[in-house]
Amino acid sequence: MAYQVIIPAAGQGKRMGAGKNKLLLELNNIPIFIHSLKVFDQDELCEGIILAISPQDEVEFKLLLKQYKVKKVLGLVPGGKERQDSIYNALKTVKTDGIILVHDAARPFILKEHIHRLVDTAQKTGAAIIGVPAKDTMKTVRDNVVTATVERSSLWAVQTPQAFRFSILFKSYEQAEKDSFIGTDDSSLVERIPHPVTMIEGDYDNIKLTTQEDLFFAEAIVKKRQGSF
Ligand code: CTP
Ligand code: MG
Repeated sequence: MAYQVIIPAAGQGKRMGAGKNKLLLELNNIPIFIHSLKVFDQDELCEGIILAISPQDEVEFKLLLKQYKVKKVLGLVPGGKERQDSIYNALKTVKTDGIILVHDAARPFILKEHIHRLVDTAQKTGAAIIGVPAKDTMKTVRDNVVTATVERSSLWAVQTPQAFRFSILFKSYEQAEKDSFIGTDDSSLVERIPHPVTMIEGDYDNIKLTTQEDLFFAEAIVKKRQGSF
């Protein structure tokens, strides 16, 4: 089943503290966002990529897309204030009635096998996301005092990509705009339509590069995948 993917890349990477968009930092001598894009560019089921970028990054990103021969970018759209605004800008340009994925440019380790499972499931159920069971014991805390221990078996850490039938995702964004709702992922918008979302178990390597220490984990994952660990 073919699909298109929206890749939000218009953040500022403040928590990384690199003094520029963290997606331009290199991993194995290749910019982080190029790693993320290449997985989709090389996937035969991917029909096209819509990339949301900041105006200040436009020249550099365009150069790198050319240099690394990324072929499937159908469109570049300007990012918005929040991640959700960037994705909405992209969604408004999408011309498909099929499956649409949203994947953070800051997650370079997604595997093709998982993308295909998400696409197949979203085709059947309308909405599918990927995540991993929580490993740590989770507690709620207020003013540094524990208020509860949460039942761990029901907790999952959520990643991207998230896959939807286009009409469902677009409707959820329109509804969120109407209600001034801002969610931390796309699924949370779809959940409140409401529409059921299926969870697929992924792997712990699919990390989002957020802070400096994530770069060390990322180097280790690169080495592991190269078989030299
Ligand atoms: N993103 C976006 N538009 C925004 C904010 C974020 O397209 N207005 C993108 C980022 O580029 C990233 C993804 O959404 O690929 C996930 O966001 P996050 O990891 O929070 O990245 P940043 O917002 O760049 O980082 P920070 O929050 O530390 O500033
Ligand atoms: Mg952010």
